[in-house]
Amino acid sequence: MMLEHRQATVFFCPKAWKLFCGAGCYIKHMCGIFGYVGERQSDVALLAYWALRDLEYRGYDSWGIAAMTPEGIYIKKSVGKISDANEREFRGVSGKIAVGHSRWATHGGVSEVNSHPHFNRDRTISVIHNGIVENHNELRAFLREKLGVSHEDLFVSETDTEVIPHLIDYFLREGKNFEQAFVETGKMLEGRYAVVVMKKGEPYLLAMRDGSPLVVGEGRDEYYLASDVPAFLDHTRTVCYPGDREYLKVSADGMMMRSLENGTKVEPKWIEIVWDKVSATKEGHAHYMLKEILEQPLALDKAIHQEDEQLLAAARLMKEREHLFFIGCGTAAKMAKLGELYAATVGEKLATAFVGSEFNTYGRFLDRKSLLFAVSQSGETADVLEALSIGRKKGTKIISLLNVVGSSMDRMSDQKLFINTGPEIAVASTKAATAQIAVLILLAYALGKKLGEGKHLMRKVVKEMKQWVTLDLSREIRIVAQKLKDTNDLYIIGRGLNAPIAHEAAIKIQEVSYIHAEGFPGGELKHGPIALIQKGTLVIALIPNDETKRDMESNTTELKSRGAYIIGVSPSHSPLFDEWIQVPDIGVASPIASLIPIQLLAYHLAVLRGNDPDKPRNLAKSVTVK
Ligand code: M6R
Repeated sequence: MMLEHRQATVFFCPKAWKLFCGAGCYIKHMCGIFGYVGERQSDVALLAYWALRDLEYRGYDSWGIAAMTPEGIYIKKSVGKISDANEREFRGVSGKIAVGHSRWATHGGVSEVNSHPHFNRDRTISVIHNGIVENHNELRAFLREKLGVSHEDLFVSETDTEVIPHLIDYFLREGKNFEQAFVETGKMLEGRYAVVVMKKGEPYLLAMRDGSPLVVGEGRDEYYLASDVPAFLDHTRTVCYPGDREYLKVSADGMMMRSLENGTKVEPKWIEIVWDKVSATKEGHAHYMLKEILEQPLALDKAIHQEDEQLLAAARLMKEREHLFFIGCGTAAKMAKLGELYAATVGEKLATAFVGSEFNTYGRFLDRKSLLFAVSQSGETADVLEALSIGRKKGTKIISLLNVVGSSMDRMSDQKLFINTGPEIAVASTKAATAQIAVLILLAYALGKKLGEGKHLMRKVVKEMKQWVTLDLSREIRIVAQKLKDTNDLYIIGRGLNAPIAHEAAIKIQEVSYIHAEGFPGGELKHGPIALIQKGTLVIALIPNDETKRDMESNTTELKSRGAYIIGVSPSHSPLFDEWIQVPDIGVASPIASLIPIQLLAYHLAVLRGNDPDKPRNLAKSVTVK
């Protein structure tokens, strides 16, 4: 067992802080958090270990546990998966309070020092956090000024989280009690967070949330706090979900919940969980695919939080290269095509998009004047990696747009951009795709020297999505799916920015519902596919309010007059539609609005047809072979 006094030198690392400042980056994470307080006298660290194993799907690059024991604060941190740790390490750590954290970093270093919990200087306060403290730089400056100490003397890690224990510590020194210091700190945080704090000698945990998940489980003389219920489902099914900007004081004797703003008492609403443990890991949704579709507003919010410098550096590289090739496979190939279109229309730069497996023929054109831009969720797709290795041999620069830090593409690239959406578990790519679109849009605006405009647009998009992408939308689409579920064929048409979305819609429907689906550019219909249209043939028409609208309406008229049953995906209604899926009008970001209802449609078609949408037949999440 490691006690706090033995940890002091291990955790302090001024070099890490200097490296961090030099890199100008900060850590963003999805993460799983766990807290326990109760009359359980033994094996409290083991309890945290089991909980973190159940939360591992949320983050798995490093982990940490702290527990209050009669001998002092037990601390254990490590890089790697918690499930790789040996259970025996945690046995025999007795106590009544523990916190644990499983981390999924998307920016910056995966290291023991960056793993949670984070501490104040004398390590009496242990903090675990899921989310982003967006104003951490300002808070660092505040602490430096107030405490009159250098960064090196205060901060150990590269994380945004570490400001929290130091702020609590500062307010304690100002004469506030633990709860008051915690509340003052909470009021200063901007961004998203779920935070749990343990203080040596205090018999309770404090927690708060804004935007990031936090659920409380109530047992007999004990409480559990976690990012998701599976962490404690073996112990209790009575749960309550605190609201945004509410904080909790939890001891073995009871729980008190208050508003962070004005201290008003909030009555907890306890409910009984009826799911089994496996489905509970999906935050209450029946499948990961649905969970991931519905979390897109948040995923988009994370994706658009890019460092300006990173975007501008990538845009500079794109601008100065003679030949720009976007490359990806499957869904990522469709997003690569969108990259090409955005580069041309918003960024005024000619580019060409290729499907990874078809790139070999063009490898001979790669040279020092060209740039390969890889789009990939996993960063491990074999066909894309092969193209990148050809590029490397020829001195071609590489930019990658990725979700997984430390992946092969991350290591092979000169510049990397991360979508920061957290693990995508369902095989069908959903939230990664729209997050890729968001970053490609920002990049195109940076390329066109109008990044500010792009950021403004994307903030509006996120706001719209937060209102629109809800369970109500899912229910609405399920009704449409009921009507379409017995079809054998489904066609999707779109033009311009929505032509790649027509292709993406087809792949989504194919892979989970197993319905034969094909996407076409609207203008291609009369060159062949229109021969397939008969009375009742189902066609989805993607018709945004942009320059493609008039042509799309005329293509739809051609289909309608041949008897097609039209499902219009559009901000405006048209008499051509047999079904209308109304989407928000979000300008050049329309591919995001067109795609989300189709993802839901694919999902509901799969479920209605008795398929498991999370694990479609014949497919794997990551295609690491050619
Ligand atoms: O990890 P990647 O983004 O490189 O994966 C590429 C494709 O294998 C992937 O998008 C696949 O097409 C998805 N199953 C589509 O939903």
